[in-house]
Amino acid sequence: MLRPVTAVYACLLSAVFLSGAAAHAQKNPDLALTPPMGWNSWNTFACDVDEKMIRDMADAMVASGMKDAGYEYINIDDCWHGERDANGRIQVNKKTFPSGMKALADYVHSKGLKIGIYSDAGNTTCAGFPGSRGHEYQDAQTYAEWGIDYLKYDWCDTKDINPIGAYTTMRDALAKTGRPILFSICEWGDNKPWEWATDIGHAWRISGDITPCWDCEHNWGSWSSWGVLKILDMRDALRLRQYAGPGKWNDMDMMEVGNGMTEAQDRSHFSLWAMMNSPLIAGNDLRTMSDATRRILTNKEIIALNQDGLGIQAMKYIHAGDLMVFAKPLENDEWGFLFLNRSNSPLDYTHDWNFFELKDDQFNRHIDFTKVKFTWTDLWKGNNGDTINPLKLQIPANDVVVLRLVPKK
Ligand code: GLA
Repeated sequence: MLRPVTAVYACLLSAVFLSGAAAHAQKNPDLALTPPMGWNSWNTFACDVDEKMIRDMADAMVASGMKDAGYEYINIDDCWHGERDANGRIQVNKKTFPSGMKALADYVHSKGLKIGIYSDAGNTTCAGFPGSRGHEYQDAQTYAEWGIDYLKYDWCDTKDINPIGAYTTMRDALAKTGRPILFSICEWGDNKPWEWATDIGHAWRISGDITPCWDCEHNWGSWSSWGVLKILDMRDALRLRQYAGPGKWNDMDMMEVGNGMTEAQDRSHFSLWAMMNSPLIAGNDLRTMSDATRRILTNKEIIALNQDGLGIQAMKYIHAGDLMVFAKPLENDEWGFLFLNRSNSPLDYTHDWNFFELKDDQFNRHIDFTKVKFTWTDLWKGNNGDTINPLKLQIPANDVVVLRLVPKK
């Protein structure tokens, strides 16, 4: 007679235990309901990071108007680390971060901003500093005590590690701290994270590292870095968009706006990242950026496409030679349209709206332009028109025209 009772007890106990565990075992559901916006140190500074530069960058994010435009996170990438102490607790590099990470987080918070940090699922980070393998819960706890709001978690030195297991472990470790920490997965799309990470991270990289060029690949031997068009083409935009939405974004990597491309290329890069619902993480030096760069990064109408509450990534609508057209469903039956000239010469194109029916089968949206009419606003130039008349475009080399369409009453 005792046996069944014991069995029932065991069941009850495990149910209690499991539900306790389950309470922790989810990513924070309140974060990244729209794509994260911020700045990251890697693209400009690589390992040359220190606390003064990070503080200055927080100041510049406010002074430049980027905070007002919606940018929120100041993210320190690789190379902030010192050694682990005798208890295994990770230390900052005391030469470059002498005041410690807590003081730096307090400073960034005092500006009304949030702070992000970087670690790696392996034994070492990509730059060779201590990774979090075997220290996941301890590191998450340390980050929470420092006041960290965002973790980018990389994938170097991970031979024989299961990516789903490794990223789930860190997700659970972050959840256990009780602090809302946005979890950004960075395994370059190698293991198709869009298929398994929607409940694990708030965003996942879909490519190797970006580099500031239009359509190049820099081959470094065992890996490559990629230009803007290469990242755009790398994954089939139509296929990946189905996995993304509020709290789960395809990350096309930190931006290279202001890092050496032409103004047209920067404008296209920014507009494409916005339309694709990629996180908008600037990667330039905010303290010294030109007015042109600042205007691109703070274009509120383009940002509004990215931050739209529906959270639907743009679809590829037309691809004909050097012309690509992307369409993005927005709230209130509005649409974003992006016309991209991939080529190095200007492109003349007349778009007859009535000629192309728009069908988004993945998100069940459809426009028959012969029946529904829209007005449009050009989000870079400010001029207006409607879809009754064909749209005559002259798109300069490597440039874009981006429109917001509003249904006519
Ligand atoms: C990898 C990541 C980059 C950057 C570096 C840091 O290459 O993909 O974004 O974080 O590591 O070492």
